[in-house]
Amino acid sequence: MIEKIEKLKQEIAALQAGSPEEAEALRIKYLSKKGEITALMNDFRNVPAEQKKEVGMRINELKTIAQEKIAQLKAEASVQAAAGPAVDLTRTPYPIPLGTRHPLTIVKNEIVDIFSRLGFTLAEGPEVEDDWHVYSSMNFADDHPARDMQDTFFVESRPDIILRSHTSSVQARVMESQQPPIRVICPGRVYRNEAISARAHCFFHQVEGLYIDRGVSFTDLKQVLLLFAQEMFGPETKIRLRPSYFPFTEPSAEMDISCHLCGGKGCSFCKHTGWVEILGCGMVDPAVLEANGIDSTQYTGYAFGMGIERITNLKFQVKDLRMFSENDIRFLDEFTSAN
Ligand code: PHE
Repeated sequence: MIEKIEKLKQEIAALQAGSPEEAEALRIKYLSKKGEITALMNDFRNVPAEQKKEVGMRINELKTIAQEKIAQLKAEASVQAAAGPAVDLTRTPYPIPLGTRHPLTIVKNEIVDIFSRLGFTLAEGPEVEDDWHVYSSMNFADDHPARDMQDTFFVESRPDIILRSHTSSVQARVMESQQPPIRVICPGRVYRNEAISARAHCFFHQVEGLYIDRGVSFTDLKQVLLLFAQEMFGPETKIRLRPSYFPFTEPSAEMDISCHLCGGKGCSFCKHTGWVEILGCGMVDPAVLEANGIDSTQYTGYAFGMGIERITNLKFQVKDLRMFSENDIRFLDEFTSAN
């Protein structure tokens, strides 16, 4: 009898039920009127008197174990049944929500792509720069207003170390390490100490280009910029160059493109002029070539620089510059298809 009880104990400990119905079947098998444990209890009267105490205790223990086990199986099985079928871990997790490229990255890639088709290679440099590469090598006089606190972020305790305020510093680094022919395009982030508003930010992004070789002329510059404008804004795009001033170029110009929204007829976007400004450019000042170790009697060059935010605004009509750095998913999601 004791043997039988122990065997049943082991059997019950190992019981499993995949559904509430299976658990109920087990209850019937062991605990119902015709169940195995009930049968044992009925046999109890045949146990010799001296064993009655021990066998009685063991049967009661077995019954409690069986009741608890089956109740537990029933509870587990009904929780599982309520949760529905088990998760299929072999299923492909599709569709996967893909991230989007940042609009500035999309436009930067497009600009770099256009110029790389013209033979420009990519150059990058540090955002924390020294005064020489940002200003002095670029022919800024010592008292040039751009060096002023209003424009430049200085590193505390190191007045000669600054956050670059334009990517011309990368051009300086290329010129000092390489002899012509040089044909590079320099994208990167720049910093200016401006109050943050819809139209200005303390950092933005630029792409600058530099071409130095024998016999490079303003005509070459104009042709490359026309091609760029038409690739970027469509084959109908016209350009116009207005005289301007930069310390590092002579002559210097600012370039407008015909407004791509109204086709040059005049609208509120172009303030009814038919033109929108997109970049600065010019012939590299011989003083800049000399300062960077390039013989200005042998070589000439052109340079141009544009703000990526400006080009992006023209392409996508983003009204507020701050949206570019707020990382609002609703804004970024709008560029999914432009990737
Ligand atoms: N470095 C100028 C700027 O930051 C842009 C520029 C580059 C203009 C090259 C002319 C030539 O405004």
